[in-house]
Order: sequence, then structure tokens, then C-alpha cells
Amino acid sequence: MTEMPRPDVAVIGGSGFYTFLDNPREVEIETPYGKPSAPLSIGTVEGRSVAFLPRHGSHHEFPAHTVPYRANMWALRSIGVRQVLAPCAVGGLQVEYGPGTFLVPDQLVDRTSGRVQTFFDSGACHVSFSDPYCPRLREHLVAGLADQEPVDGGVMVVVEGPRFSTRAESKWYGDQGWAVINMTGHPEAVLARELALCYAPVALVTDYDAGVDQASSVSMDAVFEVFAEHTGTLKKVLGGVVAGLGERDCGCSHAVDGMDLPVTLP
Ligand code: ADE
Repeated sequence: MTEMPRPDVAVIGGSGFYTFLDNPREVEIETPYGKPSAPLSIGTVEGRSVAFLPRHGSHHEFPAHTVPYRANMWALRSIGVRQVLAPCAVGGLQVEYGPGTFLVPDQLVDRTSGRVQTFFDSGACHVSFSDPYCPRLREHLVAGLADQEPVDGGVMVVVEGPRFSTRAESKWYGDQGWAVINMTGHPEAVLARELALCYAPVALVTDYDAGVDQASSVSMDAVFEVFAEHTGTLKKVLGGVVAGLGERDCGCSHAVDGMDLPVTLP
């Protein structure tokens, strides 16, 4: 049997998105930061070798604030991954971003607390994060979602959770002009940058956050239900995007060039 090439692309599945590849091979990985959320699945999409990792574990064992983000990103890089597509469920903070909207964020606001957000615990290693997402992957995602009329850009605010926001918090986020809210977008993106990976999220709005829809509260059941309705579309779109990715000609691969890193990247 011929050996499958190492995957250079990965998809990290969000809430309700626990499988992606047909007949995958599972690889157990141990990293200096412990085990990732689940064994990595490796399979092919249109002949291309691809890795998949369910962010919350195979059975949603890890709520957002306990996801082993460092182990996840390290494990992916250690098997050869250099480009990461990151679907996630989000709440809409503006009336125009209702349930079912696809949005490809271009900015992030970190409102988490207490999460380890770096691999670099010593030395002067400070990555540039002014544009947190890979512009090339973003373009591929927006183009791949064309039939869904995606929103191209917007701020994703990431909160600590596991609770949802109060109406006052949510209204404040919306008043800032921020587009969507979730609990997993940080520190995943910055850890990807520290590993010089290309990384971009694709957000599916599953609910109106509490400050937008004064009549109701966010419920986890609604989040899962709306995500489940759109998982098929998301998987199809991601399959096409993955298959069409070309060479890395963006700056992401140079994110840590010249730095005296306290760790050797895998
Ligand atoms: N994930 C999905 N919907 C959310 C919301 N309203 N707030 C935080 N995270 C979410």
C-alpha cells in the first residue's frame, strides 16, 4: 500500500462538527503541552491529504475554556500542517447577521481571561497580530461560500464563557460595531501565528446574542440546532476550499523569522 503524503492543510471542527473525512486514519499525538482534543484524523479530499481535529473533542468533552489550544496547534504542525481552516459557531451582534449567516471575520477582540495564549514564555518574542487572519485563506473562504452570500469581514469578539453574555455586555459589544461573538477564536489564532501557520476562521451565526434580540436568551440547544442545519453546507464548501488551496505566498510563514524562540517548532 502506498503511504499517504503528510497533510499540509487542516480543518478544526467546531460545535456540532465532529467528523469531516471519509475513512480517515487516526493518529494519537502527544505534545509538550499534552494531548490534543482528540486523535488527529487524516484522510483525503479530492486527492489532497487533509487533517481534521474536532476542537471540542469527539464527543464535546472540552467546553471552550478548557480546550487544549496549545496541544491542538502544536500537534497539527508536528504532522506537517501549515494551513488551518477553523469553522466556528457564533452569535450575531447586529440585526443584519441573523442565524444562518456565514461570515469570514477579518478582526478579533480578545475578551477571554486566564487562558494560556503563547508558546513563548521567555525571551523577546512578540509576533505581529495586527491582522490576525491569513488574507489568502480568507479570500478562498469568501469565494468558496459565494452561493451562501457570506459577509466578508467583521470583528469577532471572543469571550471567556462558558456562560453566554448578559444583555448589557452584549449590547456594549454590538455598540462597538463588532459583528459576531464566540468563545473559541482566542487563543487559537495567535497560537497559529506563533507557529507561522496560515489560519482563518469561518463563522456560522447560530443565534442572535442577548443584546440584539431583547425578547429571548441564547440557548445551547438553539446553537446546536442551527449549526446542525448548516453542517452539510459547511463541509461541502470546506471540501472545495481545501482542494483549491495553492502555494503559501502570504506573510504567515515568516511570522517568527529572526526571533530567538524559546522552543523549537515541530
Ligand atoms: N457561540 C455561538 N453563539 C454564541 C453566543 N451568542 N455567545 C458566545 N458564543 C457563542
